Order: sequence, then C-alpha cells, then structure tokens
Amino acid sequence: MAAALEVLIWRGKADGRYQAFTVPLRESQTVLDVVTWVQRHQDPTLAYRFACRVGMCGSCAMTVNGRPRWTCRTHIAKVAANGRVEIGPLANMPPIKDLACDMGEFFAKWQRAKGAFAPSTSRRDPIERIAPATAPRLAADAAIECINCAVCYAACDSVRWNRDYLGPAALNRAWTLINDQRDAGQDARLAAVAADGGCHACHSHQSCQEHCPKGLNPVASIAGLKRRTLQAYVRGEL
Ligand code: SF4
Ligand code: SF4
Ligand code: FES
Repeated sequence: MAAALEVLIWRGKADGRYQAFTVPLRESQTVLDVVTWVQRHQDPTLAYRFACRVGMCGSCAMTVNGRPRWTCRTHIAKVAANGRVEIGPLANMPPIKDLACDMGEFFAKWQRAKGAFAPSTSRRDPIERIAPATAPRLAADAAIECINCAVCYAACDSVRWNRDYLGPAALNRAWTLINDQRDAGQDARLAAVAADGGCHACHSHQSCQEHCPKGLNPVASIAGLKRRTLQAYVRGEL
C-alpha cells in the first residue's frame, strides 16, 4: 500500500459530487479516522456523524466503495483498492450534507412497527423472571444486539423499490418484542407488521444479513414475523 491514500468524499446533498483528498496512511487506520483527518486538516466544513468509535452507537455508517459499512470498525487496509477509497452517505435516505443523511424516515418506521416496549406491569410489581433457555427468549436474544446503524436499511433493495416498506431493522426490532412475554402491545404490533409495507414485502434476498456489522440476521426475524402473522390470520386474530 502507498504512503498516501486518495480519498473521494461526497460533498453536498443529493445533487452533490465527490471531492478528492490526499490523506497520509497510518497503521490500523479506520475509514472514520480518514474522514476525521480530512475534517481536521483539510476542510472543517465536512459534515459526518460519529459518537462512540467502538461499534456501539451505530451513528458512523457510510457507503464505502459502494457498500454500506460501520466506519469506526472498518480498517482502510480492508477496503482501499489500489490506494483509493470512495466514501459517501448511506443509500435509501436523503443526504442532508456530505456524509450525514436524514434518518427520520428510518426511525419513523421503528415507531410504525411498534418498536417500543409496552409494559404489562408497573414499577410497583415484582420484576418478572424470564427463563434464559425458553424458545421466545432465545429468539429475542438472537436479534437483540441491533445498534440502529441502518446499514441493513441502506443495503435493502426492497426499501429502494418500495419506500413504504418498514425495512429489516424495524422488523427485526418488532420480532424481539413479539418474543417478549412481558410486553402488552402484541395485537397492535402484529397488525402493524402484517399491514402493507410490513414483513410480507420482504423478498428474502438476504442483503441485510450479509451487511449487518453485528452479525445479526434480520431476514430470520422477518421469516418469524411472516409465520406469526399467517398463524394469526388463520386463527382470525388479524
Ligand atoms: S431479506 Fe428482506 S429485509 Fe433483508 S435486504 Fe432482502 S428484502 Fe430487505
Ligand atoms: S440489524 Fe444490523 S445492520 Fe441493521 S440496524 Fe441493526 S445492527 Fe445495523
Ligand atoms: S462511532 Fe459508534 S458505531 Fe461507529
């Protein structure tokens, strides 16, 4: 690898363009390190998001050489091709400025999928024990580590074709709650994920699983929702 890296960074909104920068290479440098270096040394007006830098907050995702990734845990050595890397905002959401996109629609879909826990007890009730080895608990555990990074949402062709589709992250979240026996909002949640733009709009081509930096499998969660909504429909509950 050369001692300097050619970096193309998206500037502006949807009608913007890529701007070229030359960035010194460092050992163990991440894509986020490169973006930060450009902002600190070449153009302080460059807009981008990050918070934790350790793969926990989900705010640093960008498109790197055409693929959505978390940038704080993506090493340049892994993605640079011939000393060059192209960095843009995530797809499927409108760019606000440079590398920051508007995630309002993404989070609105979490709300539409009833992605908030609905308590069935009050703080005065005893805390309910959930046995760790039960099937619902295991299903929820398998999907719970989502960091809301929207990498799967940016990778999903069904979102691109159908802007009404809730998308893999919101549906994955709904699946964790459907498997939470303490939750009191199940009827509304099942109706929400069974409606137009819900789980049945997923074409199961698995881009979400392939790209998720946390190794989650949203398409398995969506398959669970498809089964559960069909059972409810057959029983006349939907
Ligand atoms: S499997 Fe479904 S949710 Fe995942 S990327 Fe494909 S269409 Fe989107
Ligand atoms: S499911 Fe994975 S890719 Fe999608 S928002 Fe959660 S952590 Fe990110
Ligand atoms: S900065 Fe928090 S996940 Fe990358």
